[in-house]
Amino acid sequence: MLDQTALPRLRTVSVTTVDQLVDAIRRLVVRGAPALGVAGALGVALAARTLDGDALVEAAAHIGAARPTAVNLAVGVRRALAVADRGPDAVLAEALAVRDEDIASCHAIGDRGATLLRELCGTEPLRLHTHCNAGALACVEWGTALGVVRSLHADGRVAHVVADETRPLLQGARITAVELSAIGVPHRIVVDGAGPSIIARGLVDAVVVGADRIAANGDVANKIGTYPLALAAARAGIPFVVAAPETTVDTATPDGDAIEIEERDPAEVLGTGTVLKSTQAWNPAFDVTPHDLVTAVVTERRTWRPGT
Ligand code: MRU
Repeated sequence: MLDQTALPRLRTVSVTTVDQLVDAIRRLVVRGAPALGVAGALGVALAARTLDGDALVEAAAHIGAARPTAVNLAVGVRRALAVADRGPDAVLAEALAVRDEDIASCHAIGDRGATLLRELCGTEPLRLHTHCNAGALACVEWGTALGVVRSLHADGRVAHVVADETRPLLQGARITAVELSAIGVPHRIVVDGAGPSIIARGLVDAVVVGADRIAANGDVANKIGTYPLALAAARAGIPFVVAAPETTVDTATPDGDAIEIEERDPAEVLGTGTVLKSTQAWNPAFDVTPHDLVTAVVTERRTWRPGT
């Protein structure tokens, strides 16, 4: 797989064991909710080549627990494991079906989201704001939030995209910017703290982001720093649109309070040599945007307005 920790430098990583996959997921070599779902399913297919019975169930649980917030990981793992009694080829076929469905979903989300934004904003070409990376590299191809951007751009309807750099691992600066460059969308990255005031100054028409888990009531967990954009969008009266596949909607989770927020190594925030050795850090990787701040959740099947 492409090592997303190295981008914009291109480096690949070979994954041939479950432990290597779990390590790759934890380090964000592969990341983004839909991509985690596909990686999880393929991981079970890998394990099913050599394991069965309880040993396979245990390996699947190990993969599913690699990161807690994006529900797609557990969903992908569960789907592949569910056909294990039919043998390893069936598990692989199921994992590849997860992949293919993700590709189809992203295209549908892109088109639906593009139509919605054109209706909601009533002005074109659009100036959009996004956070983290919800593009092809976070999925299999096309992307969710960036899938919407792609669909709009294909019709010449994007003026520019403002992309938060996304501290501390810089998915916006390192990955979203690469994807937008590749497809020729004018864009600028900004420090995360600049986002809300750029919105307040009327410099963007809508915010479009992905999601890691959407609770039954429409509360949305996404990369830390998403919630301030939702607050700013509500204050400015512009749409805050969440683009995600149905697999990200977790009806078993009633609301945002029930979503486990991944706590990552404080060293990611502290960096090297920038702060006192005695300085401590706190590194929650996601936040929850309450549903009343969400203008719409766009999936491959529906446009859901959880705030109304
Ligand atoms: O920690 P990451 O990089 O896996 O976080 C990714 C995000 O927050 C994305 O916005 C989300 O997974 C949606 S990807 C289509």
